[in-house]
Amino acid sequence: MLHILFTVLPLCWVVSASTSAAEWCYSGCDHTPSHWADIQGAFCGGIRQSPVDIVTSEVKTDALLGNFTFMNFTSREVFDNIVNTGETEKVNLKTDTVEFYGGGLNGTYSVLQFHFHWGDTEHHPGSEHLMNGKRFDMEMHVVSVKKGYTTEQAVTDKEGIAVLGFFIEVVEQPKKLFSTKKKLNHFTNNVSLTDAISINDLIGDVDLTKFYRYKGSLTTPMCNEAVLWTVFEEPIQVNAELLQLFPTKTGVTNVYRPSQGLKGRQVYASPAVQLPPSQHWCYDEHECDYGPGHWGDLTGSFCAGTRQSPIKISSNDAVVDNLLDAFHFKNFDLKSSIEYVTNTGHTVKCVLKEGLVEVSGGGLGHVYSVLQFHYHWADNTSDSQGSEHLIDSKRYPMEMHIVTKRKDLTLDEAVRTNNGLAVLGFLIEASGEMKSSSASSAAETSSQTVLKAGTSAPSNTEIWKLLTNYLSHIKDTGTSVQFTSAVSIDDLLGDVDRGSYFRYNGSLTTPNCNEAVVWTVFKQTIKVEHNLMQLFPNTMGYHNVYRPVQTLQGRTIYTSAADASFHPTLLVLLLTCAFVRCQTNAHGN
Ligand SMILES: *[C@@H]1O[C@H](CO)[C@@H](O)[C@H](O)[C@H]1NC(C)=O
Ligand SMILES: *[C@@H]1O[C@H](CO)[C@@H](O)[C@H](O)[C@H]1NC(C)=O
Ligand SMILES: *[C@@H]1O[C@H](CO)[C@@H](O)[C@H](O)[C@H]1NC(C)=O
Ligand SMILES: *[C@@H]1O[C@H](CO)[C@@H](O)[C@H](O)[C@H]1NC(C)=O
Ligand SMILES: *[C@@H]1O[C@H](CO)[C@@H](O)[C@H](O)[C@H]1NC(C)=O
Ligand SMILES: *[C@@H]1O[C@H](CO)[C@@H](O)[C@H](O)[C@H]1NC(C)=O
Ligand SMILES: [Zn+2]
Ligand SMILES: [Zn+2]
Repeated sequence: MLHILFTVLPLCWVVSASTSAAEWCYSGCDHTPSHWADIQGAFCGGIRQSPVDIVTSEVKTDALLGNFTFMNFTSREVFDNIVNTGETEKVNLKTDTVEFYGGGLNGTYSVLQFHFHWGDTEHHPGSEHLMNGKRFDMEMHVVSVKKGYTTEQAVTDKEGIAVLGFFIEVVEQPKKLFSTKKKLNHFTNNVSLTDAISINDLIGDVDLTKFYRYKGSLTTPMCNEAVLWTVFEEPIQVNAELLQLFPTKTGVTNVYRPSQGLKGRQVYASPAVQLPPSQHWCYDEHECDYGPGHWGDLTGSFCAGTRQSPIKISSNDAVVDNLLDAFHFKNFDLKSSIEYVTNTGHTVKCVLKEGLVEVSGGGLGHVYSVLQFHYHWADNTSDSQGSEHLIDSKRYPMEMHIVTKRKDLTLDEAVRTNNGLAVLGFLIEASGEMKSSSASSAAETSSQTVLKAGTSAPSNTEIWKLLTNYLSHIKDTGTSVQFTSAVSIDDLLGDVDRGSYFRYNGSLTTPNCNEAVVWTVFKQTIKVEHNLMQLFPNTMGYHNVYRPVQTLQGRTIYTSAADASFHPTLLVLLLTCAFVRCQTNAHGN
């Protein structure tokens, strides 16, 4: 039996075995894992790919992940046939005989096959999933489809496939599976089908109540994003002799896909898993142990430091710095730079494709790569104010942060370097909001704001509609959706004057509040329709996601010299435009 498995096993379940999927490999061909995404029709470049690294400090317990019920896992008569497709052989189980339900799954899943992933004889481990960065020696996958589904149906349903993943670990004295001579024989002899082992023989006494769950994909092309993953915490124990059989008998080594980014996905644990003490922070002191006043107590946090953000900016006290020149924006006009939108539970974050969009100039002194942008807001009332920065004591309805890191540093290095990160902050206010703006004390900037409001193009509204359309798809924390609309960063920023800004040294405004940020806060605001802004609190279901202002602690705030708002001729011009526009509108009505 097992010699058959050995010939099959490198291949995670081959969905369309006879087609282009055969062109891929783990090494030594054109389509190695980093090029699987290029395979015609493959989903390997998607945003819910597997395997992943399960970092237990980021995992949340889900009380709904109850116990599994397994049917016929002990039966040794469940193997049906072996199909030789020419390129591979598949071990199929008898239809609807080995099944399971529960474990937080919706419905019953029928097991189709199982197989293994391994490393090599040089002691390189070969599990696919990682646990806190650790790769186990091997991994077993029990692949199943939703009961009643054909394979073709299963791969097109987001929950069509459930895979049970088991780590396999070498120990001196395995107390579990494969420890006895008899069972080991199964792996070395030519065992007939009817002598086949059961699934439970393979699993041993792993505690099946302790598992992790996340939404992922098949780990071989076409990498269909149709898999609900269950990764059990306890490894199956084997001895070193057995482990060696896999690479030596098959002659293939290192048959595992590298870890894929979580891309905003949340990994959950069943209640039986003991997670490290929760370090979850929140914005409301009453909602959790770590409200803003206690962020400084979080392990590894800098939130009680001396150059924290956000701050109150007083335009009168800002020192003019002639070195704060124009920015250079690379690919801000690219309409396909956003990869996905994710709900972090604290904000809506749009993550960009890597290494495409850059910013330099503006006195930054380095080239910075744009990583993501996200929003801060308050609630859905008409005068809601949820910006993080205040300018001349005014808090604005929302704030957008474009987060960038120095191109010459890794992210790890950047968060530990003085100017490793640069954040561009844009205040957002309602378009056509004459009344509340003119009440502001920020005379020059806000009077310009008022004037500009009249000129805000309707296309801006269209762009923001496109963006906010995604919110309803990511209502649950830890969900992401691919961004497919043609929207550039320029589109989202509208006609804000990007030559007129404040500059100071600060921090990230969420834990760990790393003091690595060169801040740019633009003086002009982005204008967005109030009802579109309301969609953030209303759809996401959380509000007041902004950090209270931090003390300056002697820091200087600088301002660019270029300031269009002080140009008298321009003011007159804008005044005229606004006036004409109002009239036009009046006639139109
Ligand atoms: C799951 O199984 C474990 C051990 O068999 C048991 O202690 C626990 O109560 C069960 N949980 C539920 C929700 O039934
Ligand atoms: C278990 O397998 C046997 C055949 O081997 C079958 O008759 C029985 O229905 C199966 N049980 C379940 C729950 O599918
Ligand atoms: C459960 O699955 C059924 C059929 O596949 C589907 O109609 C139903 O919407 C699912 N329920 C949930 C909560 O996902
Ligand atoms: C394995 O067993 C089958 C019969 O069960 C036999 O036909 C085949 O020749 C055997 N192969 C080896 C390599 O012994
Ligand atoms: C504001 O949010 C509350 C719930 O938080 C909701 O009941 C209410 O309808 C919302 N109001 C508007 C104008 O959207
Ligand atoms: C930020 O800090 C660096 C190094 O401490 C210093 O050279 C730079 O002038 C500071 N910039 C601002 C805007 O304060
Ligand atoms: Zn697999
Ligand atoms: Zn932010």
